[in-house]
Amino acid sequence: MKTLIIGANGQIGKKIVSECIDLGLDIRVMIRDESQMSYFTRLGVDAVVGDLEGDISHAFNGCEQVVFSAGSGSKSCPKKTLLVDLWGSIRAVEESERQGVKHFIMVSSLKSCDPLRGPQIIRHYLVARNRADDSLIHSTLNYTLLRPGRLLDTPATGMLTSDFDWDDIKNAHSTVSRDDVVSTILAAIITPHSSNRVLDFIQGDVKVADFMNTFSREEATV
Ligand SMILES: NC(=O)c1ccc[n+]([C@@H]2O[C@H](COP(=O)([O-])OP(=O)(O)OC[C@H]3O[C@@H](n4cnc5c(N)ncnc54)[C@H](OP(=O)(O)O)[C@@H]3O)[C@@H](O)[C@H]2O)c1
Repeated sequence: MKTLIIGANGQIGKKIVSECIDLGLDIRVMIRDESQMSYFTRLGVDAVVGDLEGDISHAFNGCEQVVFSAGSGSKSCPKKTLLVDLWGSIRAVEESERQGVKHFIMVSSLKSCDPLRGPQIIRHYLVARNRADDSLIHSTLNYTLLRPGRLLDTPATGMLTSDFDWDDIKNAHSTVSRDDVVSTILAAIITPHSSNRVLDFIQGDVKVADFMNTFSREEATV
């Protein structure tokens, strides 16, 4: 099963690519700029240029699974949040439906289910993610919707949780290592679940493999 990785040149994206290569998985990466191509061709990876603000249909051809780990970034203007995080995500979901993708893995964000719980400065981003998440949930695709807390460059702990009190959770404490997020993505790539899943998570005390077999409380309400 060929997996398209959108946002492959990002911090999480590059880690996924490296893990997939180590595991011998069949992948294609979508990158935004021709100048990023040599990094991936050196790794022997099938790479295509595609901008989420433009045509992306060519990237999906022959792919049965999609990982979406792209994002406009916290330093970009709100206009980019609309065009990339919202509209780019929705267009990737719609293109996947058109091209018969079997499983869509979306990297979204904790608190996208309730943007007003998030810090003021990123609420517009959480609103964009909320609507984009909804488009996936209401699509015809089989999906894994990952909603990690604030991403850190700390080493993997291998331990996560979705068992937290939404009223207590503060942004400073709701963090997770990027490496652990990569482990959840890999688990979803390797063992696509037969049911759709929404996983809200932060660093915790449950092994990633066990965690990936659980459902978040949101899933029950979707
Ligand atoms: N930061 C957090 O605390 C946090 C928390 C929860 C969830 N998230 C989500 O997790 C995602 C992945 O995290 P990360 O650390 O890997 O982010 P990242 O390093 O910023 O990577 C984002 C990737 O998206 C690509 N991208 C941006 N605009 C694009 C466009 N128009 N077309 C195609 N690709 C485009 C970027 O391309 P370039 O390489 O060309 O710039 C980059 O490779 C974030 O985007 C965010 O939505 C973040």
